[in-house]
Amino acid sequence: MSINSVIPILAEDLAVPLRIATKRTVLMCKPQFFTVVYRINPWMDPALPTDTSLAVAQWQTLYDTYVGLGFDVQLIDPIDGLPDMVYAANGGFVIDNQAYGAKFTHVERQPEGPAYMGWFAANGFDVRVPVETNEGEGDFLLVGDVILAGTGFRSDSNSHAELSAIAGRPVVTLRLINPSFYHLDTAVAVLDDTNIAYLPSAFDAPSLAILQERYPDAVIVTEEDAAILGLNSYSDGYNVVIAARAKDFERQLRARGYNPIGVDLSELLLGGGGVKCCTLELRR
Ligand code: ARG
Repeated sequence: MSINSVIPILAEDLAVPLRIATKRTVLMCKPQFFTVVYRINPWMDPALPTDTSLAVAQWQTLYDTYVGLGFDVQLIDPIDGLPDMVYAANGGFVIDNQAYGAKFTHVERQPEGPAYMGWFAANGFDVRVPVETNEGEGDFLLVGDVILAGTGFRSDSNSHAELSAIAGRPVVTLRLINPSFYHLDTAVAVLDDTNIAYLPSAFDAPSLAILQERYPDAVIVTEEDAAILGLNSYSDGYNVVIAARAKDFERQLRARGYNPIGVDLSELLLGGGGVKCCTLELRR
């Protein structure tokens, strides 16, 4: 092989940015009492059977993946009768050791708010009791120094100002319009401090314009990948834990220098959640 045939390959490799992983601390909740007995999003159908032991086994794979990546994984005890408690992302939003508590929209999940706030208090976080309805990191995503905040289905837009005051960070309001993508973390994936992936059709026109302006180089995922909650993923800046079935997203991430890691959480998809829903970042 002549040197000339090698050079173009090298040049292509150099065009892929170097991604840096940073160690994360996350909170998770084992789906010991997971089942679907009510319907608060279009994914949930109480008539379909669920397999709690399979949910636990799949969740364990996610837990093991995080441990393998060097994360500090903390656990909150699951509570019998709160089947959605596995979706820890909704338990609050934690930044600078302050834990802004959740205040759930639906009565079925409301007891989770105090349960998570109790854990934050017991673990040395400064708990900020919410006045406004909000579902934590399900609707609040930190990208660098900006918080992207969803509304339309769950979190009240008044919670955006409440969080902005507590966090001392600008909050960008984004309106969700498709009931299947009812939390912001089902329509946006944070890849690192400056990059995101998202599903354009999940947003109203003004919100889409904001995303296009702020993130011109964003990964635009396919409807197919979004439809299995492929965006509901968690990145440490290099490793991106995603739904195993999100094959286009996997390729898109690899092409941009990330390391996608597929995990199968099909059982938890029956409750309308995926990787990110099961993960709450703790920022001391
Ligand atoms: N069944 C739960 C609900 O509808 C799923 C929550 C998913 N969580 C998330 N962060 N998107 O509230």
